Amino acid sequence: MKGNLTFDFSNMCAQAVGAHAIDESRFERGQALVGEVHKAMCEKRGAMAWRNLPYNQEEVVEKIERAGKEIRKKFENFVVLGIGGSALGSKALFSACCHPFYNELPAARRGGPRFYVLDNVDPDLLSGLFDVIDVEKTAFHVITKSGNTVETMTQFMLISRMLSDRLGEKFKENLYITTDKATGILKKIVDANGWEHFIVPDGVGGRFSVLCPVGLLSAAVLGLDVRALLAGAAAMDEVCCRPGLEENPAYLYALLYTQAMEMGANISVVMPYANALAPTAEWYCQLWAESLGKRTDNAGNVVHAGQTPVRALGVTDQHSQIQLYNEGPFDKIITFIEVGQFKNQLGIPSAPFDVYDSSYLAGQSFNKLIASEAAATVRAVSDAGKMNNRITIDELNEYSFGKLLFFFEMATAAAGEFLKINAFDQPGVEAGKIATYALMGRAGYEEEARRLSTAKPAREGFVFTV
Ligand code: PA5
Repeated sequence: MKGNLTFDFSNMCAQAVGAHAIDESRFERGQALVGEVHKAMCEKRGAMAWRNLPYNQEEVVEKIERAGKEIRKKFENFVVLGIGGSALGSKALFSACCHPFYNELPAARRGGPRFYVLDNVDPDLLSGLFDVIDVEKTAFHVITKSGNTVETMTQFMLISRMLSDRLGEKFKENLYITTDKATGILKKIVDANGWEHFIVPDGVGGRFSVLCPVGLLSAAVLGLDVRALLAGAAAMDEVCCRPGLEENPAYLYALLYTQAMEMGANISVVMPYANALAPTAEWYCQLWAESLGKRTDNAGNVVHAGQTPVRALGVTDQHSQIQLYNEGPFDKIITFIEVGQFKNQLGIPSAPFDVYDSSYLAGQSFNKLIASEAAATVRAVSDAGKMNNRITIDELNEYSFGKLLFFFEMATAAAGEFLKINAFDQPGVEAGKIATYALMGRAGYEEEARRLSTAKPAREGFVFTV
């Protein structure tokens, strides 16, 4: 399978885009840290269990492929119930590797069930789903690593009730479950009922879990090549383990981004020029935000580290965001992701009427148009002095997509080392989870509930209804 990624970081440098970019002295400052970062990445490899996923899942992959085949044969729909890292990888995979109107294709062309990811508890969204699926003909993949997440547990309760009311004892046949091997409420439930389930391995946090059953079952159900996805990740791992900057795109990305953060570039925009990669930008946003947004560093100093990720889409956002990127503050870095060869070659025909000054477009192609617009935008933001970099995927498939996912995971982990923070916890997310437990009346959270219910607006006159 083809699938190379080309990285071009030259527009991160002052020589290319001017004073608001990384100059030699700043680069050298980052370079001085690389040895230490590499040492930490090597020493912590064991604890970063997600780095072993491309290599240590033979049995799991077999089980997933079996389950995928069974689901493709038996069910009309497949719904992922999960949130955050338990959902975004599946969304990204689905969009990157499947037909853009997959769910609308005839069943024979799809070859498997329609696919949905339900990562919200909006009652209108949940109720709306039942207008388009028959739950009896639907497989649900319930994913929560902690096994306690309110959003996923309530969805699980709703679906189980609906299924058991309709199917009786057989309701479990529509449920596939992925959770931690030892802890959490969901684990207790599967153990108490003796249900088979998939495991999120120890040391694989939600946002790093796309290449374990969390995302791989979706891939198998969609008929994707799970092994090619993992082979792509392995190929990128081999590159991203190298000590030298010029041979390791993850270290170079992390160095340039963390140095840029010091210069006040607080925003990281990811702008793919391929519709299929729009949800990948969403996945990146969680990875970058939750991993690097930390109050303290490893030594306990208050640092308020992090960089706000923003997703954009070429060419769509050329007409909504680019004005800001070109002429606004020097607080952003843009990663453009391009696809060399799209699955389709689509010509621009001549129109059956006079198109006046647009006639030069006839006979060219949409492929050339999107590539030209990407190149033009890169030129424009560079001329405006804004730091940017380009990742070009020669062909988007499971193999190259596995590479892309793994590159971003490694870059994030390396950025954590440059910043000397823990990229793998999420105390800020936990705080919100605790407040939700309190507001929903969970035992043990009474004190927090009291605190929240007695909180008053800090300033009179700032809350009103119109
Ligand atoms: O990256 C993370 O750890 C989080 O985004 C989690 O994936 C998210 O909070 C859901 O957690 P869980 O899988 O435990 O339900």
